Amino acid sequence: MAIILDGKMIRDQILAELKPRVAAFARAPQLVVILVGDNPASQVYVKNKIAACEVLGIRSQKLSPAVSITTEQLLATVNQLNADPEVHGILVQLPLPPQVDAMRVLEAVAPGKDVDGFHPVNAGKLLSGAPGLRPCTPSGVMELLRRYDIPIEGRKAVVVGRSEIVGKPMAILLLQANATVTICHSRTSNLAEECRRADILVAAIGRAEYLGEEHIQPGAVVIDVGMNRVNGRLTGDVDPVEMARLSSAYTPVPGGVGPLTIAMLMSNTVRAAEQAQ
Ligand code: GUN
Repeated sequence: MAIILDGKMIRDQILAELKPRVAAFARAPQLVVILVGDNPASQVYVKNKIAACEVLGIRSQKLSPAVSITTEQLLATVNQLNADPEVHGILVQLPLPPQVDAMRVLEAVAPGKDVDGFHPVNAGKLLSGAPGLRPCTPSGVMELLRRYDIPIEGRKAVVVGRSEIVGKPMAILLLQANATVTICHSRTSNLAEECRRADILVAAIGRAEYLGEEHIQPGAVVIDVGMNRVNGRLTGDVDPVEMARLSSAYTPVPGGVGPLTIAMLMSNTVRAAEQAQ
């Protein structure tokens, strides 16, 4: 029987460990989330992020500029937050509307307040192994593996997906933990063959139940990062029946990786505030 890797339980552990660190501040850390427009998925994510702040006693603010905002206007907002010593973390919820130059906006966030870990300075620190704020989803996966004592060193890890937010940083973190890492993507030939090599298979493709029986080595650990909405239901990137049947351990969707992303956002916010002291 496969072990179900319980993201909610690990989230609760991480939040419980953060609580005394938050309480140690004379004035609590503050996270500002910028949510442009009314994307329904983004609204849910932001609501959950704000709720997590409340649980921990982190101050939070949600800014909701109109969907018609220009790049320059958004840059002005970010610069104001950068200059405000009462703001420790800044998160610009993606996607941004098409008229906004998302790259310029993300590059405008002060690296020390970049709790998403998306700034090129933090990406560079990740690549070179220097301390810095790490992207939340991949660092959440690493926490999950660590807390379940899943060995990484010397094992074959296959990451399916090469996004800046998940796939690429995930591969680098696994590499730094001494896995032998393969990154697969939409142009990979023989995807199933590559995936079947994996002792640790991370699916971050963004396509509902795209990986199945032919992609999973029996006994592999399968981490499903997928959050696909199909007929109103949340589904992962891996066929859940085959994942449960073939793997030795796996993350369910929902309840696996999702809760960890928010826990690591809280962790980054506390860290950013500690380092600003
Ligand atoms: N949109 C989807 N996932 C994320 C995330 O982790 N951070 C931000 N800022 N936007 C997102």
